[in-house]
Formats: sequence, C-alpha cells, structure tokens
Amino acid sequence: MTLQLPNDPARSDVLSARPTLWINSLYRDDAIGDTCLPLVPDQVDVAQSDWERLAPLLETCFPELKKTAGAIRSDLTELHALREALGYGGGEFGRVFAKADSALPVAGSIKARGGVYEVFVFAEELARREGLIGDREDIRHLASAEARAFFSSYSIAVGSTGNLGLSVGVAARALGFEATVHMSSDAKPWKVERLRKLGVKVVQHEADYTTAVENARSAAEDDPAVYFVDDEQSRRLFLGYSVAASELVDQLQTFGVAVDADHPLFLYLPCGIGGAPGGVTYGAKKVFGDNAHCFFVEPVQSPCALVHMMSGSEELVSVYDVGLTNSTEADGMAVARMSAFVATVMRNMLAGVFTVDDASLFRWLLLAHEVQGLRLEPSAAAGFAGPGFIVKHPQGRAFCERLKLSDRLRQATHVVWTTGGSFVPQEQFDQFLEIAQASRSR
Ligand SMILES: Cc1ncc(COP(=O)(O)O)c(C=O)c1O
Repeated sequence: MTLQLPNDPARSDVLSARPTLWINSLYRDDAIGDTCLPLVPDQVDVAQSDWERLAPLLETCFPELKKTAGAIRSDLTELHALREALGYGGGEFGRVFAKADSALPVAGSIKARGGVYEVFVFAEELARREGLIGDREDIRHLASAEARAFFSSYSIAVGSTGNLGLSVGVAARALGFEATVHMSSDAKPWKVERLRKLGVKVVQHEADYTTAVENARSAAEDDPAVYFVDDEQSRRLFLGYSVAASELVDQLQTFGVAVDADHPLFLYLPCGIGGAPGGVTYGAKKVFGDNAHCFFVEPVQSPCALVHMMSGSEELVSVYDVGLTNSTEADGMAVARMSAFVATVMRNMLAGVFTVDDASLFRWLLLAHEVQGLRLEPSAAAGFAGPGFIVKHPQGRAFCERLKLSDRLRQATHVVWTTGGSFVPQEQFDQFLEIAQASRSR
C-alpha cells in the first residue's frame, strides 16, 4: 500500500513523476538559530579552520592543489550565453551563475568537500591520539612514509552511488589507508574502475544506495580498525560541505553582486541523500542569513527529500512508499530515502525542492557543454531548472509573493550548483552527448 501524501499543490505532480516545485510551508526566518538543532553555526568556523590547518598536508598529498595552497575550491562563473539558451535571458531572471564544483580538484565533484574533509580530519585525530604527531609538529608529517605505514593498518569504509566513494577512496589511499567502497547498483562502471586502479576494494551490490550503506555499516561495525564514513548520519561530511558557501561571499563581491534584503540569493543544489546540499544550505544560511533561499533538486523518480519533507512524518518516508521507482540516469541522486539527520536540520531551513526528468538533465548537460564549455554529469545539470521554477512556476511565484520578493527578482542572483563531471572519461561523456543529441533530433 502506498503512503498518502498530504494535500499540497505539488502532490499530484510528485505522484505522477512530473517535474514540479514544492514549497516548504515550514520554511522560516532564522531557522539556523534554532537551539534544538543537532549542530551550531560555530561548527562551520571550526570546519573552516580544520581545512586551513590541513591545507599544507593536502597540498603535499595532491600536487594539483599547489596553485591554491592546499584549498579545494571551485570557480563561480556568470552565465551570459547559457542563460539565453536556457530561456532565462529576460531581466526578470536577475543574474545567473554556475558554481562549478564539477571541476573541483582531487575528486571532480562536490563530494571532494565532504569526503576529503572527513578522511583527513579522522587521520589527524587518529594520529594525535596514537602519538604519531605532536602538538607543534608539522602537519605534513602525516604524508611521511612512517605515517603511511601507520595508516595502512586501518581501513576506511563507505557506501556510495559513486562520487562519495571516489572522494573517500582517493583521500584514504593518498594517506595510505586501506579503503572499501560499497557501491549501489546505480554506480557507473568507470567510477568502479577508477577506484580499483587506486587500490580501493569495491564491493558492488545488486541493490539500491540505502542497502549499500547498510551493508557498509554492518561490515564496519565489528572491526575496530575500520572507520565508517556514514553518509546517512555524518556531521563531519555535512560540515565539510558547509564551508563551500563562504567561498561565495568573496566571489559574488568580485562580480559586484550584493546579497541583502533587496537583493535575494537563490541557490539550486542537486540532492541525493541530502548531505552535500544540506551542508551547503547550512553554510549559506550562516553567511547570508535569510537573504539566501536554498532549493534542493531531485529526479522525478527519486525525490526522497521532497516526499519525506512534504509528508511531515517523523519516520523517514522513502520514494518507494509513494509508488515511485528511484530509477534515474542521475546516479548521484538515485537515493530512495534521505538522511534523517539532514531532514532534521533542513526542516525549517530549506525553501523547497523541485524535480526534473532525465531528458532535461541530458538536454542541459549538452547545452552547458556547447555554450559554456562545462563538463557535467547528469546529476550535476539538475540545478539549471531553478530560475525557471522560481520566476515562472505558479508555486515559485506564490513563494516570491509570500516573501515579498516578487518586486526584487530583477535584482536577484541565481546560483546553479553544478556538482560533478570533470572526471567523467571522454568515452562516457561522448555517450552522454549522444543521448542528448538523439533526443534533440527526435
Ligand atoms: C554529482 C552529484 N551531485 C549531487 C549529489 C548529492 O549529494 P548528497 O547525496 O550528499 O545529497 C551527488 C551524490 O553523490 C553527486 O554525485
């Protein structure tokens, strides 16, 4: 029996797997100040200083980080021609940008922020606890042969649809850890292959992501030498992502963009289990306050955050519970049940969720490549629907009316977070383009 979703303007679209926008009626000002939340904004500052302290080590482990002195950052690009091609040329769309995590160094996706952070913070914690490094000692000692030998008796495990596994696997192997990645059936073969080449043990499950995580968790539970990166519950992953929003502060200033009550900022964030988009949302609320409005985006058959948050249920609701299939080409977003931790934090903080179909993902992937030279995987193109939903869709217009933003849309800024793709092998990327071209010529 399927679960009943409450009455909502988006309900029938959701159940029929038609692209739609759901507005969160519990969205409210200063949600980040809620003292009942399981984390506090100061933790984002701690994560920021962790990244800074670890930067020399990251630079030593990953030569590609030399030019940023160990920082893992992405560019912000204003979309001029692409916004026209997407149908957002009019002044009512304000300014439109892409935040290109698709080209993030080390792991080629937004997962570099969470996965690399968690593995490196764990490594430092372990090394300090076991006396491998002293208080004043150079953090780069953790890249020494002695440290590698020490780390090699520990293993890092994670469940993944692909990109988190890549990021955790790359980070773990860079320090000398053993690593096991439990992949869901959605994982793309090239991601599996890349990990195996790095010496990561890949366990492929003929099951969805939730099952892959459960298997990873129980395999890790009995072994004290295994550290499990828990995508369903990890604060560390979440905080690693959260620091991303602070990059936007300087970047938007460089473009002369103000964010204040008269100049709202809209962020569009592809969502799987919710950790990456939730972390970025939390960070954005910390730095921009209520002038930033964050929306998750999910495939029409995998809208796990949407159905759970719309349901209002205390128990997690999955997409299967409402009769959807969780089937999509967007492997990073093929998740049937969101993280309970992220659901709690986002309850009053997330403005809404919109859904997209796979054909649109391929169309935008092709356009972004042709017009802007971006290299995206399907999941990463999902945010391009954002400006259209906010400005044109009845629920988007009602949202803007309610928040008194309708008159300010011309001064608004839309940031489409493009979350992955630069590591996609050429052959696979050509296949994406072919799929898109075939449906264009139909
Ligand atoms: C490219 C890409 N975008 C977005 C996401 C969603 O992140 P999360 O599962 O943390 O919501 C993923 C997850 O793997 C991804 O690979």
